[in-house]
Amino acid sequence: MQSREQLNSWQQLTQHAQLMKNQHMKDLFAQDSQRFSKFSIKLPSILLDYSKNTITEETLSLLTDLAKECEVEAWREKMFSGVNINKTEDRAVLHTALRNNAKTPFFVDGKNISQEIKKTLNQIKEFSDNIRQGHWKGYSGEPITDIVNIGVGGSNLGPQMVTEALKRFSDNRVNVHYVSNVDGTQIAEVLRPLNPEKVLFIVSSKTFTTTETMLNAKTAIKWLTASSFDQSVIAKHFIAVTANKENAMKFGISKENIFDMWDWVGGRFSLWSAIGLPIAINLGFERFQELLDGAYEIDCHFCSTPLENNIPVILALLSVWNCTFLGAQSQAILPYDQSLHMLSAYLQQAEMESNGKSVNWDGETITYPTVPSIWGELGINGQHAFYQYLHQSNNIVPADFIGSVESVTPIEGHHETLMANFFAQTQALMEGVDEQQVRADLAAKGRPLSYIDKVAPHKVHKGNRPTNTLLMNKISPFTIGSLIAIYEHKIFVQGIILQICSFDQWGVELGKGLASKIEDELHNNIQNPSHDNSTANLIKHYQEVKNRI
Ligand code: F6P
Repeated sequence: MQSREQLNSWQQLTQHAQLMKNQHMKDLFAQDSQRFSKFSIKLPSILLDYSKNTITEETLSLLTDLAKECEVEAWREKMFSGVNINKTEDRAVLHTALRNNAKTPFFVDGKNISQEIKKTLNQIKEFSDNIRQGHWKGYSGEPITDIVNIGVGGSNLGPQMVTEALKRFSDNRVNVHYVSNVDGTQIAEVLRPLNPEKVLFIVSSKTFTTTETMLNAKTAIKWLTASSFDQSVIAKHFIAVTANKENAMKFGISKENIFDMWDWVGGRFSLWSAIGLPIAINLGFERFQELLDGAYEIDCHFCSTPLENNIPVILALLSVWNCTFLGAQSQAILPYDQSLHMLSAYLQQAEMESNGKSVNWDGETITYPTVPSIWGELGINGQHAFYQYLHQSNNIVPADFIGSVESVTPIEGHHETLMANFFAQTQALMEGVDEQQVRADLAAKGRPLSYIDKVAPHKVHKGNRPTNTLLMNKISPFTIGSLIAIYEHKIFVQGIILQICSFDQWGVELGKGLASKIEDELHNNIQNPSHDNSTANLIKHYQEVKNRI
């Protein structure tokens, strides 16, 4: 397979990067008063400012050439038209069909899937209305007050992140709780205050084989049946969302309580399907539809906007620029909106499970750096924790700053203080402050020269740290839908440019397989199992201590 490194634009970008490494953004801003208008994109409810990157118009033009040479537009067309672009699993990638609202027909293996999607959406509507209006009754005739979603990875992070982000839009008719960890502490804590008569469990698992989810679901059944002494209550308190109906039924969940999922929706892109059921129950179906509409708006933007004005494409190209060409190894996600406190956890799975790979589509080793590790935290909390590193360490960490113009919870003075920090941080990261300035500031404060000599080097901020700013008008189901879709498409474009199979996740299998062998050893107290010297001794120590206590 032709390596990306052989492309003309790639080679030009490699040379161009050598020049740009010596450029300071502060100078680029000084030379061009139009940087913001050149390097920003405004949509009706969201703005992207990417001017605080080490780029010029030439960089942008070379990057868009790269996108063209990599045939991003043709690949986009393939994805939307249901070609099996998930090559290693031989599947289409059509999460976009879920938010299209049957406006365009989507085909998988020649079959129009729009009707199936519509049918499931109607089921979601009917079911969520039923629960919210108290028509669905538990075994004792009580309406449901609490939903417990049991699922992990894509069957947890999407719905939980959105539920948290849209808390202010919930009328709290039905509470939603999430259990993802196989550590019994989590499920025990979630269930402790709940009344089994009023709880509905949603077991969300595309495969219905995931060990953690299955074990949590079994524990939930035990908890439920312990209070009712009757297995038949399961029909009233358990539903499943899965592509594996057979396993769900074997598990004891009634056929009519199973919501469909499909092969062509990847777990980490699945919140738009019935995996999003907890969102619809918590907020009401209309809000869920608004979430889908917000994502659909970005699908339209992504499909119809020229590459140089296309938000997901630009974000992907900047990630490739910063990581592959300029050498950054991680990226921070820094929301300045409490609602988005789970965003970085969500994007960690979305980006790292999709593109954290080292062979290309043909299985050949990729020789250039690919995607960064993703991490982050609410911006303000981060400022008092790790921003020191962002400002002054030797490692450059490009960061996405995400905020809203209007707060969903206006309390006098708070939002201005929050946003003042939001704006100040990207300015500080870009400009920095040089030694001359530090010295002048200290001298102006009347500090003696001996003190200035000692402290000045420590106060220097080199600046030149790239950031993107995504500014939403206000958090709403619609804008959250848009924000997530922006990142989904960014990840897709990154994958195309780097020749990565973005839609499989073989890297999680090895550990899973080993865990199931060790689980057997632990359950059966097998002595001296064959493992490497470290693992064998860790297990031995665990068993010895456990047998003693
Ligand atoms: O961690 C691997 C993974 O397969 C993810 O891709 C997926 O989101 C998660 O496990 C849960 O899988 P399932 O929905 O099949 O339980």
